[in-house]
Amino acid sequence: MEEKIEQLKAQAVEAIQKAAGSLSELDDIRVKFLGKKGEFTSILRGMGTLAKEDRPKVGKIVNEAKAQIEALIQQKNEELKARDLEKILSTERIDVTLPGRTVPLGHLHPLTLTLERIKDIFFRMSFSVEEGPEIEKDYYNFEALNLPKDHPARDMQDSFYITEDILMRSQTSPVQARTMEKNEPNAPIRMIAPGRVYRRDEYDATHSPMFTQVEGLVIDEGISFADLKGTLELFLHQIFNADVGVRFRPSFFPFTEPSAEVDISCVMCQGKGCRVCKGTGWLEILGSGMVHPHVLEMSGYDPQKVSGFAFGMGVERIAMLAYGIDDLRLFYDNDMRFLQQF
Ligand code: FA5
Ligand code: MG
Repeated sequence: MEEKIEQLKAQAVEAIQKAAGSLSELDDIRVKFLGKKGEFTSILRGMGTLAKEDRPKVGKIVNEAKAQIEALIQQKNEELKARDLEKILSTERIDVTLPGRTVPLGHLHPLTLTLERIKDIFFRMSFSVEEGPEIEKDYYNFEALNLPKDHPARDMQDSFYITEDILMRSQTSPVQARTMEKNEPNAPIRMIAPGRVYRRDEYDATHSPMFTQVEGLVIDEGISFADLKGTLELFLHQIFNADVGVRFRPSFFPFTEPSAEVDISCVMCQGKGCRVCKGTGWLEILGSGMVHPHVLEMSGYDPQKVSGFAFGMGVERIAMLAYGIDDLRLFYDNDMRFLQQF
């Protein structure tokens, strides 16, 4: 019996030493010798057949052998674990020279870019920025601009009313009146007011029911039409090429007198006539004029003391011409193939 135990122990020791492969191989050995149905367990089970006086001795030998094997397995286990870790450390090294995964970066929308350029040019001429609400009182959108109720010129801007007195502003011009009102009477003004406006308009290559305007207002003593023309020409030659055609065309706005609309030669067809300019060779981009005396008076300014000019431009139209885009709707389609080009 003692011999058999010695043999078993030797077998186990050999198996453990050879178990170089893996932790699971080592576990198989543990089950084979020490497990519930293992070799040593069955010896202990068979103790009943031994002579009574031999039992403690054999039991002791078996338990000692088991303890030794257990310790060996434990030791081997640690060796194998260390070896595996070593292997992982040496093979799974991070290559810090590999290029990283790029995070897709967003960028500004072409209309925002255009607005930034417009602002930049006016900042350099010392204009400040004013803001007004998109949901506006009829008073500011029309009445304070010399368009009393039932004035036929209200039809020029078919608008979205919310109540009798409140509408989605159809132009940025109400910011003119708001700015004068919050100032001391006759205080000089040199501001632009960018923002969205809303009209019941077609949705076509050059129109949208929601679009962007930049209003401008300059008031001081002795401001003349020459200041208006010079400022707008300077602006247009900076935002477009210096050789772009600029045309001042007499027009009518109830809040300016005299009034002019300003056209740019069509950059899509070089003035030959195309879909964008509707065959005229010109594209209207802004309205302008000398601030009407009534408008000054209604907001507390004295037309005897000060004068001014105002303008309102369409940012989509300017962006189209600046980038050579032939359809305004592209700005609002959210098509990545288009947007990624800016
Ligand atoms: C006005 O809105 C006046 N408030 C401009 C003004 C301001 C005149 C200050 C005098 C003094 P108008 O309706 O023409 O004017 O519009 C101004 C510009 O907005 C146009 O020249 C055009 O570039 C642009 N625009 C007008 N309607 C649309 C539309 N549906 N979609 C895109 N752009 C438009
Ligand atoms: Mg117009």
